[in-house]
Amino acid sequence: MNFKGGSGKTTTTAHLAQYLALRGYRVLAIDLDPQASLTALFGVQPELDVGPNETLYGALRYDDERRPISEIVQASYIPDLHFIPGNLELMEFEHDTPRALLTRKAGDTLFFARIAQALAEVQDLYDVVVIDCPPQLGYLTLSALSAATGVIITVHPQMLDVMSMNQFLIMTGDLLEEIGRAGGSGSFDFMNYLITRFEPGDGPQNQMVAFLRSIFGSAVLNHPMLKSTAVSDAGITNQTLFEVDRQQFNRATYDRAIESVTNVNAEIEALINKAWGRAAT
Ligand SMILES: Nc1ncnc2c1ncn2[C@@H]1O[C@H](COP(=O)(O)OP(=O)(O)OP(=O)(O)O)[C@@H](O)[C@H]1O
Ligand SMILES: [Mg+2]
Repeated sequence: MNFKGGSGKTTTTAHLAQYLALRGYRVLAIDLDPQASLTALFGVQPELDVGPNETLYGALRYDDERRPISEIVQASYIPDLHFIPGNLELMEFEHDTPRALLTRKAGDTLFFARIAQALAEVQDLYDVVVIDCPPQLGYLTLSALSAATGVIITVHPQMLDVMSMNQFLIMTGDLLEEIGRAGGSGSFDFMNYLITRFEPGDGPQNQMVAFLRSIFGSAVLNHPMLKSTAVSDAGITNQTLFEVDRQQFNRATYDRAIESVTNVNAEIEALINKAWGRAAT
């Protein structure tokens, strides 16, 4: 997550989810963004292929139309990788929640606990759930944060992006404190920063990365995700680096990109394993 648009959230989510599935983990990827870019990357057209109650909203809603998350999960074309598509319907949760807070009765699940509650129904089926958040700090994002055991904050190392992330962190901290007071949990097994779209030859970017490392120390992942035309070109046809045909790229460009994304994913995989009390395999 990060509320800075274009910081690489969706690209990171898609590559991480596919990587983990290819490594044999049972993975559920969730598109929580009404813009639904992750859904498009999964080859599903958000406004044509996704009907009413077929996004996570269906399992979160406050009325009688709510249905089990197991009915919403879809298979993908990668074995062991399931997903829940998104589309504009997800916005309903932002509209419904203020009303639900006003009219709530004892025993109602508050907004921040609703994603965790839905996921609890299917948690035995998956090893990892990866959630792609929208670029704003709304009720959906807060509910995802409350459900999360780990958080990756994607950050493009540029002045304005980092200032906006600073804002994001302050607001998130305040809101999590409120949620903690209301009975939610606000602690994570890991919370790390991932440098995205990094250009090693760019002086100001290097200074910004050095600055971030001096402030956040080891919370900044060792490996940055390099900026690569292989990633953006693959994205144009709604594909990831794992899906495109290597022949269609300059070989060195492709290999550099796949090495970078694999390093990043392996580092996140190690964080997950550490949280499980296991040595990475
Ligand atoms: N490593 C990379 N190299 C080159 N292009 C990249 C890389 N990562 C992401 N991009 C491109 O940058 C754009 C934004 O990336 P992405 O959609 O992942 O960001 P986002 O944070 O999910 O955006 P939003 O806030 O709109 O949800 C996309 O066009 C994507 O293809
Ligand atoms: Mg996105």
